[in-house]
Amino acid sequence: MNIRDYLDEKRKKRQYEQLNQDKYIQLFEREDKELETLMTYYECALMEIETKFKVMNAEFELTREYSPIETIKARLKTIDSLVAKSHLYNVKPTFEDIEDKIEDVAGIRVICGFPEDIYLVADCFLQHDDITLIDCKDYIKNPKPNGYRSLHLIVSVPIFLEHEKRDMKVEVQLRTIAMDFWASLEHKLKYKKELPADINDRLVEELLECATTSADLDMRMQNIRRQITGETSHIDDAVDLQQWM
Ligand code: GTP
Ligand code: MG
Repeated sequence: MNIRDYLDEKRKKRQYEQLNQDKYIQLFEREDKELETLMTYYECALMEIETKFKVMNAEFELTREYSPIETIKARLKTIDSLVAKSHLYNVKPTFEDIEDKIEDVAGIRVICGFPEDIYLVADCFLQHDDITLIDCKDYIKNPKPNGYRSLHLIVSVPIFLEHEKRDMKVEVQLRTIAMDFWASLEHKLKYKKELPADINDRLVEELLECATTSADLDMRMQNIRRQITGETSHIDDAVDLQQWM
């Protein structure tokens, strides 16, 4: 393909993408009140979930004099990112379809000190009788090929409105400090300028090595804690979260 054909194809693709993204913008412009309502519902769902983790931490502090959760970060997807993902996933330009297909409009990140705390916290959370587990991806037991580790739960939580009870989906990512450190930096590096293939391959390998080193550190720190507390584990590492599905 010559350079002109290549550029022509790129231009057509960009116009096509623009056209497709426009249909979501049009929906949002036409129904801006509905968009605001939906985003507010997601915000409410985040408040519900965040409170659950805060309550959990307070109780652990009381009963075990120990907080398994270090930090909680909640975020709503930006409209730009919602438009881009709806387009990517071929979601119909309706609020019903967006709500049905996009599972991470509301996202919460729970950062724990030690890997076993992640399962302890996740297990407690999933025992709440108003939480329904929709999907679970355990990238700690099965890390991504690039080294990414985290436990991902897609859950639904009811929010109580004036005249109705509404179930909202929330993505919960549970990680250790070390997993978060790696993922945050890798995320920043991923979007840097395109590099020659050989350099890129080497950096991918190096990032994977960093992930392995940080996972090793997590296990060493956990072992140190076990030796100090004399506990073998707070919870069986092999706790089967699938039981909640
Ligand atoms: P998307 O929801 O489109 O991302 O696809 P998916 O549902 O298959 O994704 P997955 O559940 O694997 O990951 C969802 C989220 O986890 C992403 O939006 C990121 O926040 C995080 N994540 C997943 N993989 C990586 C990774 O390789 N690096 C980093 N830094 N974050 C990741
Ligand atoms: Mg997802």
